[in-house]
Amino acid sequence: MTMMLLIAQIALALCALGAKADTLVGVGVNYGRLGDNLPPPSQVVKLFQGNAITKMRLFDPDIAVLDALKNNNITLTLGIRNEDLPAMAAAMEPVNTWFKTYVEPYLNDIVFEHIVAGNELVPGDLANYILPVMQNFQTLLDARNLKSISMTTCVATSVLGNSFPPSQSVFSDQSKKVMTGILGFLATQENPLLVNLYPYFAYASDPKNIRLDYAQFNATDIVVQDGSFGYSNLLDAMIDSFHWAMENVGFADVKVVVSESGWPSDGNGNLTTVSLAATYNQNFVRRIASERGTPKKPNSFIEGFVFAMFNENRKAAGVEQHFGLFYPDMTPVYPVFPLLH
Ligand SMILES: *[C@@H]1O[C@H](CO)[C@@H](O)[C@H](O)[C@H]1NC(C)=O
Ligand SMILES: *[C@@H]1O[C@H](CO)[C@@H](O)[C@H](O)[C@H]1NC(C)=O
Ligand SMILES: *[C@@H]1O[C@H](CO)[C@@H](O)[C@H](O)[C@H]1NC(C)=O
Repeated sequence: MTMMLLIAQIALALCALGAKADTLVGVGVNYGRLGDNLPPPSQVVKLFQGNAITKMRLFDPDIAVLDALKNNNITLTLGIRNEDLPAMAAAMEPVNTWFKTYVEPYLNDIVFEHIVAGNELVPGDLANYILPVMQNFQTLLDARNLKSISMTTCVATSVLGNSFPPSQSVFSDQSKKVMTGILGFLATQENPLLVNLYPYFAYASDPKNIRLDYAQFNATDIVVQDGSFGYSNLLDAMIDSFHWAMENVGFADVKVVVSESGWPSDGNGNLTTVSLAATYNQNFVRRIASERGTPKKPNSFIEGFVFAMFNENRKAAGVEQHFGLFYPDMTPVYPVFPLLH
């Protein structure tokens, strides 16, 4: 199929799904910055705007990026660096300083959606710092009556022990206690848990048994039947694995946001082609913009962020350097966003 035909089909499919003409509800992109050849933040913000990407996740606070984001209508999810957590867990002073540096000066000009205490730290040495940091930050937010900012953290599938079938999913023994504490906080605040989910890595680890069309949202049949729930795509099954694991520890009502998902366009032979990456990310964006829930939680609309805006040359060699929608010179690796409008 030619690219133009592909583009036309996706545009049609999106119209059929009722996607909004000029914004994609609930869809964001991770602005990873581990490259020595990336464009300056002001140009990156223009690239987000030019592609009508209205949500950004930033892994760590950076003044140049925050300055560039002022008055540009991009909703920001902002991370606290992993290494900053111990100090911010131990005392309010570093929390106040972080807030005064990276949030307060921008409150009138940037919409902050989530503040994220660490990335993929459970299980691990820093895991126990997450809850106290979230609590300290919440104390500050409460004191300033900033109700719209949601304090949360971000985990990967490494927190799960079993994850298949989804209904049998549980947190691992090493993760269960810390996750239960984190979820207690999130449930009280009615904040979501951010989860990084990569059907690509599941597929690449077992391409004989996992169907490619199931991993890429291309299956039209039910591929996995789990009790009364039928799954035709792996991402929905992964999200429901989290729903079940959370229910298992008593927190069935906490929502999941897909803080990262994507497919590399190179680095692992024929499993990572531009065409496969384009299909996954186009279908992922369409899945998120459809404003649907999952089989287990049909009414719980899932937000999601593509990983990532750029190919990043300072990440580990191999697939890690090839998740970008754009090359560092800002040309698209393949089209995802412009054709959706
Ligand atoms: C931001 O959105 C508002 C309301 O939708 C609009 O009036 C304004 O022009 C936008 N600003 C920019 C910089 O796009
Ligand atoms: C997967 O879905 C896309 C549309 O999203 C379609 O263009 C493509 O042909 C499908 N690929 C396969 C192998 O079915
Ligand atoms: C990759 O190549 C192998 C060996 O030729 C083939 O069996 C497999 O189906 C290919 N996978 C994809 C995704 O093209």
